[in-house]
Amino acid sequence: MDGNGRWATKRGLARLEGHRQGAQTVENIVRVAPSLGIKTLTFYAFSSENWKRPEDEVNGLMELLRIYFTSKLEKLKSNNIRLRVFGDKTPQGKLGDDIVQIIEQAEEMTEECDGLNVNFCINYGGRDEIIRAAQQFADDVERGLRFVGDLDEKLFSSYLDSGLQADPDLVIRTGGDQRISNFLLWQLSYSELQFVKTAWPDFSGEDLRDILIEKQAVERRFGAVDVF
Ligand code: IPE
Ligand code: MG
Repeated sequence: MDGNGRWATKRGLARLEGHRQGAQTVENIVRVAPSLGIKTLTFYAFSSENWKRPEDEVNGLMELLRIYFTSKLEKLKSNNIRLRVFGDKTPQGKLGDDIVQIIEQAEEMTEECDGLNVNFCINYGGRDEIIRAAQQFADDVERGLRFVGDLDEKLFSSYLDSGLQADPDLVIRTGGDQRISNFLLWQLSYSELQFVKTAWPDFSGEDLRDILIEKQAVERRFGAVDVF
């Protein structure tokens, strides 16, 4: 979800206004996703590197997340949306206790929902996720719960924040940059990548639909050869 800051600056607004508008885009996309056949959406809301931003912006983003996870909860639940947060939520991590509590409550409240899966990456980094998974696995080995020889891709995946969710079919990055920026490094091994110039606040359901129509023609072979 890139381009919020530039969207705002271009309009003579504070960067936080761009993030506010970006939150609106999240709502729009969540609303249209089921009608497009989407089963899971994962939003990269705040990276483990975003703490380097000015304190005001960090605080503003945290406040937006707090508001989203409290005020939208009933709506999410009534729409049968299952909410999950990927990222470092441990007490040693940088997220404040209050926000971790709000996030965990939101996850719990939607635990029974079996409609659209919505994942938010907050205080998330792909490398950090892999390291936390490796530590957790090593810990289980140390405690005699696992053997090193048990480790395969499926077992390792189960230690990641995404657990046994399917890998993403498609990654869309708005805002014009063509980078992965530490997003779902393990999970997107075979994902289609789409980079668009549109800033996130301007990204619409129609834009998403157009990309899906274009991408559904692409054949993914997962390393195999064409079958004639
Ligand atoms: C949103 O866009 C990403 C978040 C951290 C929420 P940016 O804030 O990176 O916007 P630009 O790249 O400065 O335009
Ligand atoms: Mg950016």
